[in-house]
Amino acid sequence: MEWTKDIETGINEIDYQHKKFFELMNALLELAVEGKEAEKLPITINLLKSYIRYHFTLEEDLMIESEYSLYKEHISAHRYFKEQLTLMESMLKDQKEPSKNVITRFNYMLVEWFLKHIKVMDKKMSNHLLDYRERNKGFFEKMRDILSRPFSG
Ligand SMILES: [Fe+2]
Repeated sequence: MEWTKDIETGINEIDYQHKKFFELMNALLELAVEGKEAEKLPITINLLKSYIRYHFTLEEDLMIESEYSLYKEHISAHRYFKEQLTLMESMLKDQKEPSKNVITRFNYMLVEWFLKHIKVMDKKMSNHLLDYRERNKGFFEKMRDILSRPFSG
């Protein structure tokens, strides 16, 4: 997939994390398609899962701190996505289907889902955050601290 302006949220750190997610998805797809280094699959999936957990928690904390009204809907969207990742992982463990097929199918679905999520929900959230920060000076540092939280794996 290509990075285009219409998936930018207006918050650099969040855009960076979204890019990172697509990179990880690509790496996973490459591993699966090449069929080599199959032993790297579980590590890559774990990395993907922990990165998603890190990214979603960060967004969720920002929403809580800024009293975002669409918080619940957004959280359940995140939950759905995490469940899909877990489902992919268990299907890979089952080995009823070649990894390549499972990963190709999920990769397509997850990327499409994520793109739409960014364009609709994350953009709305980001607009709210920027607006809230404008109106609540105390939120500036809090938002900066949450956004600069490091990923520890
Ligand atoms: Fe989100």
